[in-house]
Order: sequence, then structure tokens, then C-alpha cells
Amino acid sequence: MPLEARRLIRRMRGGAQAHLLEAEDGHFYVVKFSNNPQHRRVLVNELIAGVVMEYLGLSVPAMRIISITEDFLERHPEAAIQWGGQRLRPAPGWHWGSRYPGHPDHVTVYDFLPDVLLRRVSNLREFAGVLAFDKWMGNADGRQAVFFRQRDSAGAGPFFALMIDQGFVLNGPHWDFPDAPLHGLYYRPTVYEPVTGWESFQPWLDRIVHLPEEVLDRAYKQVPHEWIRGEEGALEAVLEKLLARRRRVPDLIDACRRARPQWFPNWRTPPL
Ligand SMILES: Nc1ncnc2c1ncn2[C@@H]1O[C@H](COP(=O)(O)OP(=O)(O)O)[C@@H](O)[C@H]1O
Ligand SMILES: [Mg+2]
Repeated sequence: MPLEARRLIRRMRGGAQAHLLEAEDGHFYVVKFSNNPQHRRVLVNELIAGVVMEYLGLSVPAMRIISITEDFLERHPEAAIQWGGQRLRPAPGWHWGSRYPGHPDHVTVYDFLPDVLLRRVSNLREFAGVLAFDKWMGNADGRQAVFFRQRDSAGAGPFFALMIDQGFVLNGPHWDFPDAPLHGLYYRPTVYEPVTGWESFQPWLDRIVHLPEEVLDRAYKQVPHEWIRGEEGALEAVLEKLLARRRRVPDLIDACRRARPQWFPNWRTPPL
């Protein structure tokens, strides 16, 4: 069931003009509205991707459907989407929310880390796994992640990466697979330094190649009807294509590596 939004905290950076809200469960969510300036389909993409990534064992924020009521909008007239010269209010109804890792007053989340800190991210190996995922799902964007510190009792600890912004899997609003070789790459090669060969993409690569059909069925069933009304057939068709391309992922990764070999400085074995 959706969670009701209680309180607006602030607007976030980025093209979807997401807003950080507190929900009735006391957690905070970065919410993309159904009438965001990108497309309603980015919510569908986020939800499908989130279910699949959880199955694959990639680190993603918990996600929830967030309900925006008329009452919330009256209490928060500053919640708004800028579109051209216009100011739109979020549509009352159901939206997509990505949980903030903790309380925003206490946990700082970083969009970018300098290389020296990036190398020490505790789950850095996952960038290889998420590349396999992005290639498979046709993410037409660069890879994006946020980082926060896992505090130990002394108050310091390593950074941990959460994979975010899956709005442009399935080529965003287009629901097709242009397969440009550089799509899905992170903007710093540092995150691929741990890649030494095909084994670096495991266990995620095998999980994709052998992904059970039920995982996509389960994802489809979680999409609220109001997000795909009249588009059910188009969504089913693109998910069928996704299933059919599972085994192509090694070739897609290989094309990426050939296009940008310097992004994988420690990958010594020859290309396919
Ligand atoms: N779960 C999250 N926790 C903390 N910050 C987040 C989370 N999800 C997104 N953000 C922040 O919100 C910004 C916008 O989210 P993003 O998914 O990148 O949307 P857009 O499609 O607009 O680029 C990100 O750059 C990041 O700073
Ligand atoms: Mg983004």
C-alpha cells in the first residue's frame, strides 16, 4: 500500500525535479512525481528496475509508492514543478519514492566523491555488477550513485554506494534498446579499477543471464495501474524483449570495453 506524504523537506537537483518528503512511516523519500517534466514512464522504469536490482543483490534504496493528497498540496504550496515558463503543482495521487538513508539532518548524502575516497567505497565492486544491469536494461543515461558514510561507534566509517536514478532504463520514455556502447558507464574510471576479468562481473552477470521470468512478472504487477493506463501492451512488449536479451549482456559489456578501454585499466584478458 502507498504511504502518505506528510511534510515537504526540499527540492532535489536533477531533471525529474524530485522532492524530498517525509512520509507517514517516519522515513524520508526522494519522490519523482507522475507529472514530472521527463515522462510518466520514468516512474515505471524506476519501479521495474528497483525490483530487478533487489533480486540481483545490487545496493539500491528501499522504494515505496508515495501518495500525495490535496491536503498535502494545500499545506505545501511551495511543492512545484517548473515546466517551460510554467509552474505546475504535483498531481494528487501516487508517485515513486526512493528512501533517503537515514534522517537528512544527520546523514549527509554525496552525489560525487573525489577519487581518493571513491577507491575506499566499501561496495566498489558493485559498479561492475550494475554495469551488467545497465547494459541489459538499456540504461540510456550514465550510471549514477550516491554515497554516505556507514558510521561505526567512533563516528567514522567507510563510504557506501547506493545505485540511484534508474529513470532512463528502457531508454527512458521510449521503451526500446538503442545500445550505444558508452551508455551506463560511470563518469569516473576509478570505480572500474577492481575489474580484472569476467569474474569481476559475478555474481550479478550470471543472475541476469539466468533471471527467472517470474521476477519481471512480479515487477510488472507492482506498477500502479494509473501509471500505465492504456500502455499495458507496450510495457509487456518491452519486458518480453528484455527477457530475450539476457544472454547478450556479455557482448554488450564487451562493446562498451572496446569503446572505452581506458575505463578498465586492470582488465588484462583479451576482449571477446
Ligand atoms: N534514495 C536517495 N537518497 C538520497 N538522495 C537521493 C536518493 N535518490 C535520489 N537522491 C538525490 O536526488 C537527486 C535526484 O535524483 P535522481 O534519481 O538523480 O533524479 P533525476 O532523474 O532528476 O536526475 C540525486 O542527484 C541525489 O542527489
Ligand atoms: Mg539523476
